[in-house]
Amino acid sequence: MKGSSVNLSKRLEAVKDTVKPCDVSLDIGCDHGYVSIALVKEKVAGKVICLDINEGPLKAAQRNVCEAGVSDSIDLRLSDGFEKVTADDKPDSVIIAGMGGRLTASILDGGKDIVKNLSQLVLEPQSEIEVVRAKVRELGFHIEKEKFLTERGKFYFIIDAVPGRANSTWDEEFYDKYSKYLIETKDMGYKEYVLKSLEKFEGYQRSIKDVKNGDLMGKIEELKKVIDLIEK
Ligand SMILES: C[S@@+](CC[C@H](N)C(=O)[O-])C[C@H]1O[C@@H](n2cnc3c(N)ncnc32)[C@H](O)[C@@H]1O
Repeated sequence: MKGSSVNLSKRLEAVKDTVKPCDVSLDIGCDHGYVSIALVKEKVAGKVICLDINEGPLKAAQRNVCEAGVSDSIDLRLSDGFEKVTADDKPDSVIIAGMGGRLTASILDGGKDIVKNLSQLVLEPQSEIEVVRAKVRELGFHIEKEKFLTERGKFYFIIDAVPGRANSTWDEEFYDKYSKYLIETKDMGYKEYVLKSLEKFEGYQRSIKDVKNGDLMGKIEELKKVIDLIEK
């Protein structure tokens, strides 16, 4: 861990690379603290406040922080979401990675008073991404960029959100589900992922033969629309 960089997984490297240079970042659900350690070592953040609801992960983070020699730049706090963050901390950004989409959205909601003054949200929800995209919008932010990546057979979405509403009249429900950014940027990794999902759902449809399943057919139509939009 000593030296200028930390060995991160592809997912955590992408989360870290999304954080913009800042004075203070928050890492909620920091667990091991690896992203925070890399951020201060690489001088992307002057300071990181690492928060976790459980003592075990926080102790592990403390050991890693000490070992990396960055104790002066990392503040560790036992906290449910934003609970132990105050305006006096003057945070610029927040990272919430590796949690379910609903939990990520509810943490953001619970920290509204802090969130409204942040200049960046870096979010990597592991399920129900559409709930997080909708919450980002509800909190007055919009998705500036989004990364799609696969690692060891799993796929991940990393949301980079900034303050301000997107100037558009698009079908929000559809794009919350399927990512306006990844469609518009014609992300080929994402297209492959959508094609595989389409194959899977068409396989289900074939297996139930003549039985008409409205939800399944609706899903297939939506996935075909995503492919068409990417290919446009
Ligand atoms: C799966 S780990 C993800 C760790 C790391 N962020 C990553 O992406 O690898 C989730 C962490 O979030 C913590 N956690 C869960 N709910 C939380 C909450 N409401 N507030 C703060 N931390 C929370 C857990 O204790 C755990 O350490």
